[in-house]
Amino acid sequence: MNTLRPEQSMSIIPVGEHTWAAVTATSTYLFGVETDGEDTRVVQWYWGPRLPEAALAEAARFRTPRSGSSFLDPRATDELLPVDGGRRSGLPSLQATYEGGVRSVELAFTEAVPGPGEIELVLRDKTYGLRVGLHVRCAEDTDVVERWVTVANEGTAAVRFGRLDSGSWIVPEQRAYRYTAVYGGWARETQLQRAELPVGETTFTSRTGTTGHRANPWIMIDAGDATEESGEVWTVALAWSGSWRLTAQHLPEGDVTVTAGFGHDGPSWHLAPGESLRTPAVLGLYSDGGYGAASRAWHHHVRRHVLPTPEEDRPVLYNSWEATGFDVTEAGQLELAGKAAALGVELFVVDDGWFGARDCDSRGLGDWWPNPARFPDGLTRLFTEVRALGMTAGLWVEPEMVNPDSDLYRSRPDWVLHYPDRRRDTMRNQLVLNFARDDVRAWATGWLDGLVREYGLAYLKWDMNRNFSQAGWPDAGDRADMLWIEHTRGVYDVMDELRRRNPGLRIESCSGGGGRVDLGVLRRTDLVWTSDNTDARDRQAIQHGFSYLYPANVMSAWATDSPNPHTRREVPLRYRFHVAMAGTLGIGGDLTRWSAEELAEARDLVAAYKAIRPVVQRGRLHRLAGVPGRAASAVQYVLDDRVVVLAYNPFSLDKRTPGRLRLAGLDPQAVYEVVTSEAAATAPEGSRWHGRTLMSLGLILPTWSPDGPDYRSELLELRRVEAS
Ligand code: DGJ
Repeated sequence: MNTLRPEQSMSIIPVGEHTWAAVTATSTYLFGVETDGEDTRVVQWYWGPRLPEAALAEAARFRTPRSGSSFLDPRATDELLPVDGGRRSGLPSLQATYEGGVRSVELAFTEAVPGPGEIELVLRDKTYGLRVGLHVRCAEDTDVVERWVTVANEGTAAVRFGRLDSGSWIVPEQRAYRYTAVYGGWARETQLQRAELPVGETTFTSRTGTTGHRANPWIMIDAGDATEESGEVWTVALAWSGSWRLTAQHLPEGDVTVTAGFGHDGPSWHLAPGESLRTPAVLGLYSDGGYGAASRAWHHHVRRHVLPTPEEDRPVLYNSWEATGFDVTEAGQLELAGKAAALGVELFVVDDGWFGARDCDSRGLGDWWPNPARFPDGLTRLFTEVRALGMTAGLWVEPEMVNPDSDLYRSRPDWVLHYPDRRRDTMRNQLVLNFARDDVRAWATGWLDGLVREYGLAYLKWDMNRNFSQAGWPDAGDRADMLWIEHTRGVYDVMDELRRRNPGLRIESCSGGGGRVDLGVLRRTDLVWTSDNTDARDRQAIQHGFSYLYPANVMSAWATDSPNPHTRREVPLRYRFHVAMAGTLGIGGDLTRWSAEELAEARDLVAAYKAIRPVVQRGRLHRLAGVPGRAASAVQYVLDDRVVVLAYNPFSLDKRTPGRLRLAGLDPQAVYEVVTSEAAATAPEGSRWHGRTLMSLGLILPTWSPDGPDYRSELLELRRVEAS
């Protein structure tokens, strides 16, 4: 058995016969195989604060007793992969139908296959030749435990899966159960919700073919007493960008489990003899220290183990969409590019409208060559000029889509999702190309790679603007439903191949705003478009919910025009920038209409952002106070010795603002010096404070003073000057 050093983040260690522990720096996840002679189950013995090594075996000694009623299986709720079979009547994570309609899965444990930092527990349904691999991985330097499932049909007849989740997690017994999750819609993504977890099954799902706007695939559960700074929180998150389902099951007997996986109710997966299937990863995190600590642990994990380029500072970008809509011309883009460069913008992205016959949303999608009327000589001159202005070049694409009014659709009508005898319903006048097809993927990879090379593109904004409908794949026969999985994997493959061929390329994931934000797409993208709603006040609530799982360096945020084109709300330039500066700053306004004063102020704000960028993009986030967008609030980032605070107050009428802003996550004994401040009277630049004072007494901010206009905001930076 391995010997653990307290500070060491370990991976999977054997504990006894058929028992293993995933041990992280702060947590232990203990699981093992149990057989009662008849039935085999892989059970979770423990998930919580890290146990001493000597305690691991004792924690796996007795299972929690449950009611002895003959209606209940006393052992039904602590399984890592409850199957539809035997005496189980809870929600199954694996549901298979064998030849002849047999639906009771009976698995027997055959072996454990260890790998680096992971283990596969192999179970088999011998009668029907189904092999199930239950994988647990725990990388060093993260508190997140990762799991997935593989199934292989080693039998002679097909098997059909009604459900194949990545795995179930058991939340240890609590006095009460409360969940935190996000819901939303277009232009109002990632709205936080928190409520008691009802007895029953609470399901969050997407049936759209994408991650979706209505929910995001994660849940946090606590005992009802966690706060931002304290309390135990268990999170489960799914790394998948297609349809999905996550169900928190709260049984009347008290237990709470969370099962999550790809696919929604309805479609089922057909596995012919010799075929196999791997689920996406489902990730679990135990943390103590409230929602704040849970979020920071997720951010750390995303940066360390998910993102392809975590250490790179994201450039300040300009995007033309809100300025021009579809009215993209060389002269118009060049005018914007000149103004953007003067502000200090580093990346210039041309959005929708540059290709085919695309002058509105009803034609041209699929015809990925420069619009001959608008760019008779191609895009070379535009992007050469962009580079001459000192910026890199980026382009908007929507590879999975086609307008019926396009050359592509006229020549390849069979490439879209469809059933032969059903309508082909459009949304935003477009149909979905079937990325499960090899020829479609090869076509997409070809033209995307060609564009990147021809124009020397540093950046693609990969958009996806509609849900699936009539999701048929006529050539695929029994495998047709697999398109729900293989379309998403096809998108991943094309992105991965593009990056392989073009190592300098960076990709932004977008789906009508924030419809494709998840731990799956973030493995091959560098940031995501958070929402089409760029109204600074609305955006604060969106960013707040977003920050629960995803770090600031993936949160693309633009400062745009006032009044905002979506909400007509007027918000000062400074407030708009300060909100966008809480993530990866971009500018999306019509710069030709900004006054000289506004442009000068914007230039200063871009420079200020660049100075704090490493701290925001790579630092530890503390959500300090308030209800963002509705009352006084502040966010703080800490990286090494540097501390950055962005404070906001949208309403002068809110007279209940806190008198002082208390910082967090500092060294209490160390001394911090104010480097940048607008609070000349109360926290002047050069003034020094102990970490303890800043955290326990706090600073007085002009932004939070009860008297003053609407939409006040400020940036404060401190630096640790004397260590404790
Ligand atoms: C939806 C995106 O979210 C917008 O930012 C923009 O790119 C449009 N699509 C373009 O059609």
